[in-house]
Amino acid sequence: MGHRVTLKPSAHSFEVPEGQSILQAGLDAGFMMPYSCRTGVCRTCRGTLLEGRVDYGAVHPTYLPDSDKAKGYALLCQAKPLSDVVVEVHELAGVAGIRPRKIPCRVEKIERPAPDVAILNLRLPMNENFRFLAGQYIDFLLKDGKRRSYSIANPPRPEGVTALELHVRHTPGGAFTDQVFSTLKVRDLLRFEGPLGTFFLREESDKPIVMVASGTGFAPIKAMCESALQRGLKREMTLYWGCRAKRDLYMLDVPQGWKADNFRFVPVLSDPTPECQWIDRTGFVHRAVMRDFPDMSGVQVYACGAPVMVDAARRDFVAQCSLPAEEFFADSFLTEADKAPAAAAAS
Ligand SMILES: Cc1cc2nc3c(=O)[nH]c(=O)nc-3n(C[C@H](O)[C@H](O)[C@H](O)COP(=O)(O)OP(=O)(O)OC[C@H]3O[C@@H](n4cnc5c(N)ncnc54)[C@H](O)[C@@H]3O)c2cc1C
Ligand code: FES
Repeated sequence: MGHRVTLKPSAHSFEVPEGQSILQAGLDAGFMMPYSCRTGVCRTCRGTLLEGRVDYGAVHPTYLPDSDKAKGYALLCQAKPLSDVVVEVHELAGVAGIRPRKIPCRVEKIERPAPDVAILNLRLPMNENFRFLAGQYIDFLLKDGKRRSYSIANPPRPEGVTALELHVRHTPGGAFTDQVFSTLKVRDLLRFEGPLGTFFLREESDKPIVMVASGTGFAPIKAMCESALQRGLKREMTLYWGCRAKRDLYMLDVPQGWKADNFRFVPVLSDPTPECQWIDRTGFVHRAVMRDFPDMSGVQVYACGAPVMVDAARRDFVAQCSLPAEEFFADSFLTEADKAPAAAAAS
């Protein structure tokens, strides 16, 4: 038997069929609740249980300790109602009419701008007019039932697009990227579901924007910046892109070419070699941000890339630079290795 969920403060309400998570049922009902990984790791979907009981699902205590449960928190991508429930969660505007779909696509071009980075250009069926928000991602649906997520790097168009650009970093031993870097070729057919996720600009705010990317975390940030600059967004935007060495800044000329009075680009290398001939910023990328923005009480932050960078940025920006926790938005590029503790909790 299903149960009824009511969201506060919106008062939207929907049925959750037996066995389904609150997040999935809410998305199916057309309510845009925040989420990213959907595997109980990133905590983007955290809501507060105001009434009723839930099965917290397969969540490792690292991501939802008992102290959080005692405060009423639940990860809604895992939580299943055990009674009718009321949950506090802030729904998002701006995604009306954009629903994920399963779509076939062909590989149109594969470029290798760095030894461990591939840029995949995908061609969608001509009648698709795929609509998404800059910053969202797609899930490749692999033959064995696995899914792998990749952020869209090209900006959307109001009428939709029939081509997608993805930036894929090779994870040696990885089920999908080992294929991308060995056997995948032009004209191969793939299937994906998308658009997914809620990593997109909060347009209702007028706060200055700080963007932080590490590695291929540049992909959704590129889509966001290009979209914002095309639309003439007036908010101050500062982009920090951190990599180990200069060759890892695989599209350095692209952000260097974005010219606008309200846009500033700061590349940062954590491990420059003498061959880099680097005279610019060095160190951890989130530390460079903190040096320039010691007081973040009035900004919004969009961070994307390696989980270790996203976690450090969230922790230190809030604790040391007064960033309001609700002004930090992120997509953490979790792999199966990162999700393994959550999977172990499920078994
Ligand atoms: C929202 C989101 C957006 C993303 N966007 C991008 C993007 O734009 N670009 C990008 O490059 N990446 C992105 N990622 C990461 C991407 O989805 C993949 O996780 C990554 O490319 C690795 O995939 P893979 O199949 O090659 O490796 P996986 O199969 O995930 O394996 C990764 C590593 O973990 C090891 N491993 C596998 N299973 C286990 C296990 N059970 N226990 C321990 N170790 C294990 C493997 O040996 C390998 O070394 C994103 C992730 C998320 C969640
Ligand atoms: S979306 Fe629920 S923990 Fe990531």
